[in-house]
Amino acid sequence: MDFKTLATPTGGLAAVNADALLVVLGCAAPPAGLDAPLADALGAAVKAGDFACKAGSVLYLHGLSGMKAPRVVLACAGDASVKGLRKAVAAALTTLKSGGSQHLAVALVGAEAVGAEHASALVAAVAESLYVYRQTKPSAPAASKLDKVSLLCAKPEAAALAEGLRLGEQLAAGTALARELANLPGNHCTPTHLADTAKRLGKDFGLKVEILDRADCEKLGMGSFLAVAQGSAQPPKFIVARYNGAGKGEAPVVLVGKGITFDTGGISIKPSAEMDEMKFDMGGAASVLGTLRAVAGLKAKVNLIGVIPACENMPGSRAVKPGDVVTSLSGQTIEILNTDAEGRLILCDALSYVERLKPAVVVDIATLTGACVIALGHHRSGLFSPDDALAAELLAAGEQAQDPAWRMPLDDEYDEALKSNFADMGNVGARAGGAITAAMFLKRFTGKLHWAHLDIAGTAWKSGVAKGATGRPVPLLTHFVLARAKHK
Ligand code: BES
Ligand code: MN
Ligand code: ZN
Repeated sequence: MDFKTLATPTGGLAAVNADALLVVLGCAAPPAGLDAPLADALGAAVKAGDFACKAGSVLYLHGLSGMKAPRVVLACAGDASVKGLRKAVAAALTTLKSGGSQHLAVALVGAEAVGAEHASALVAAVAESLYVYRQTKPSAPAASKLDKVSLLCAKPEAAALAEGLRLGEQLAAGTALARELANLPGNHCTPTHLADTAKRLGKDFGLKVEILDRADCEKLGMGSFLAVAQGSAQPPKFIVARYNGAGKGEAPVVLVGKGITFDTGGISIKPSAEMDEMKFDMGGAASVLGTLRAVAGLKAKVNLIGVIPACENMPGSRAVKPGDVVTSLSGQTIEILNTDAEGRLILCDALSYVERLKPAVVVDIATLTGACVIALGHHRSGLFSPDDALAAELLAAGEQAQDPAWRMPLDDEYDEALKSNFADMGNVGARAGGAITAAMFLKRFTGKLHWAHLDIAGTAWKSGVAKGATGRPVPLLTHFVLARAKHK
């Protein structure tokens, strides 16, 4: 897919030469000064009750006389916001994506100012609408014919919009990578597959990729990570992928992603209904790889390291049992009271590991708790951090990227729940506040790190008819990393 800016012709929208013209109305009423054929058609449609100027409504017109483009779609964004634009483009594409158009021209009218963020949002909406999972589905619908999108603009804004399109394209590629990985079934997307994907990214984008295997992790003393991995025949992989876009001396941003390629619950086995969805339990890992892809694609001047503990959580004969006590890389011992609280067991060793990378900040990303889904639903990711400045940065990045998070508490009082009579801590508390006690568990392994934790259990995928991965929070993370690159 090719995204470009295109100067609006002197003859106006009527003269636009494309297979389809999408006119997004960035206002609550038909804007003044709209080209006559469009204004007439719109007026007639409103009068006939076929179109109301409210966000998400669309009107498809074929062969509208006076227009050069054979297809015209009018879509209302309600206002000039990025959110409205995304909604309007998504609605318009339902009519266009399976049609014969190759080249789509998009105009945003009735908006005061069209900026780079609109351009990025356009790309995101197109990419999201056209995404089709096909890796294990040969019968998936054929790819859309649409392969070129032009954003109409005036001269002065062209450069900014082109930059916005470029950011949008890299973000979309990173998001798509995360979606593809998370959608891929557990028998295909194994820890080895994640490691191979990291290596391929390394080749394509010049990342330095190191894969630690079971023996390496044993030598280091990652007793907690390996305890989760021991129930599975799939060998665990501990992935470290470095993107060096800034000077050697510059402390890296480190992203740690939960890479459970399938979570059965282990001996504390999950109920079988909807257990298939636990193939998405490597959504954190997928978002780390997706963010590396986007940031490297943008050649951002920042050092970024992705760290992924990857394994399966299986109830094999060697599997860890409730009550087993293991020694983590930090030296602290953990009584594994529930083998289904495995995410924190692999992340705690990863958090201890990253200390040696001397990071500026560490953000871990994990489909960690069902409790977070209960607390925040599917719209906002849970954000936990004792560091106010870091929390603010991440929240701002989420708003900017249309990939929002919400801050949750980390009071010491919540730590009580983790006390154990047989080890330094248990791996679960009571049911109440489950997302918070999980975060409190991780906090015990963060030492002096500037650390934040994103619980994406509710946002990394959708259930129901639209079942599948969302690619979140690649947009949030990418914006966060880019903002850090700029501040220097
Ligand atoms: N991967 C799950 C969390 C999860 C649940 C993600 C539902 C998405 C949807 C995690 O490993 C898990 O099983 N957590 C347990 C923790 C509990 C045993 C303390 C949970 O949330 O039930
Ligand atoms: Mn689990
Ligand atoms: Zn899990």
